[in-house]
Amino acid sequence: MTNPLTVVIFGASGDLAARKLIPSLYRLHCKGRLPPEARVVGVSRSPFSDDAFRQKVAGSVQQFAKRDWDAAAWDEFARRLFYVVADAGTAAGLDPLKQWLHKEEGDGGGRRLYYLSVAPDLAPGIVVALGEAGLAKEDGGWRRVVLEKPFGHDLASAKALNRTVRAPFDESQVYRIDHYLGKDTVQNVLAFRFANTLFEPLWNHKFIDSVQITVSETVTMEGGRGGYYDKSGVLRDMFQNHLLQVLTLVAMEAPARFTADQLRNEKVKVLESVAVAAADEACGRVVTGQYAGYRSEKGVPPDSKTPTFAALKLTVDNGRWHGVPFYLRSGKGLKDRLSEVVIQFLCPPHLMFPLPPGQTLQCNRLAICLQPDEGIHLNFQTKVPDQGMVLKPADLEFHYNKAYPDTPIPESYERLLLDAITGDAHLFMRSDEIERAWEIMDPLIAATERADAPQPQGYAVGSDGPACADEYLAREGRAWLSLCRH
Ligand code: BG6
Repeated sequence: MTNPLTVVIFGASGDLAARKLIPSLYRLHCKGRLPPEARVVGVSRSPFSDDAFRQKVAGSVQQFAKRDWDAAAWDEFARRLFYVVADAGTAAGLDPLKQWLHKEEGDGGGRRLYYLSVAPDLAPGIVVALGEAGLAKEDGGWRRVVLEKPFGHDLASAKALNRTVRAPFDESQVYRIDHYLGKDTVQNVLAFRFANTLFEPLWNHKFIDSVQITVSETVTMEGGRGGYYDKSGVLRDMFQNHLLQVLTLVAMEAPARFTADQLRNEKVKVLESVAVAAADEACGRVVTGQYAGYRSEKGVPPDSKTPTFAALKLTVDNGRWHGVPFYLRSGKGLKDRLSEVVIQFLCPPHLMFPLPPGQTLQCNRLAICLQPDEGIHLNFQTKVPDQGMVLKPADLEFHYNKAYPDTPIPESYERLLLDAITGDAHLFMRSDEIERAWEIMDPLIAATERADAPQPQGYAVGSDGPACADEYLAREGRAWLSLCRH
């Protein structure tokens, strides 16, 4: 008989479960990828019967997995869904879940994935309770725990959380989610760099002037997130995790083999090479903004100094990246929803073509468009036809939706959930990665939170962000680039 497999979702009545987790598990079921023996059990304090829970999540799957909704497939999937009312904050509160698992799994035990889809302050208590209730112990099958960001608030709290998690669980049982790693286009950075011969020889300081990583969002505080967000701000919410993770993939060396540990070792080496700003230089490395109207958002104090936009510079102090600045920016309430990496190559050392007075050559650029129009753009010079030697830049473009018209890019949670179920940790963050990322971010965050730190500069919702970001790059002799925007 197959050993039972249960995905336990703590916080099953919450927003993440409704928007992402259940719709992704449903899609995996429809694609025939969810192992046939797998069942999903939602746990929370809100009282639901199995049927009431199924009905509730059917509504969210219809809403969030629209194009994949199929009533017959749903009925099949719904038979795999269950619900247990329990207070996961204490070992005793977990009793109803223990009993349910015992009844379903029998004496042989089973394989279990515990997904903590709960508010950050509740996660440590649940981990401790799982340990005390004996639910972390691998008897009769593996136990894995999936943790959502934020993973700590700074280095000290991340270390404390890692200690808490690693008391009942071994590191190999812990799956820390950064949903950016679940995006196909983020993984494509590795395919692009390491499965091609063309680009890797140029991927270093001898040919690259600078790298820009932009994650621009149009959303503001939808869903009443103001209370959470105001304690976090863009540097914790986006930079410590998503932007730094993208940076590691752009900057890392090729592992000898594509194993979770080798990949993560290389990523950690990049983070180890990123220079940590000293307190007195940190404020010169980062500029911040706040969109107009942020202070009137629900849950946000009227005098909040929390940045909703930031731009900063990092350097990767190793042989490959010597002297190449990495500029990172991200913000909410901006004009575009757009995530991209732009590699600005150096100019040819000697240009034999005379340029018209005042014109400078636009040197090669490569853009990795992470979302929403996923693809790659390579910008190069062409001769304009039927004129003298007049040069004009043009783009070679690869678009996922044209190359794979029948295969839409999946929701990143689909991939991550399946990986956690199958025990593939490539796309999950190890504790050392997280801690080093905080070590890099802490002084930069501190520089923006000091009593004498400048107020974040205001910017209009729907704009390109605060002027200070452009001025900052102008002082660096550069400008922000976007090749993926059309
Ligand atoms: C989350 C942040 O981790 O990522 C949100 O907490 C942000 O503030 C979101 O909006 C962005 O994700 P995506 O996939 O929409 O770029």
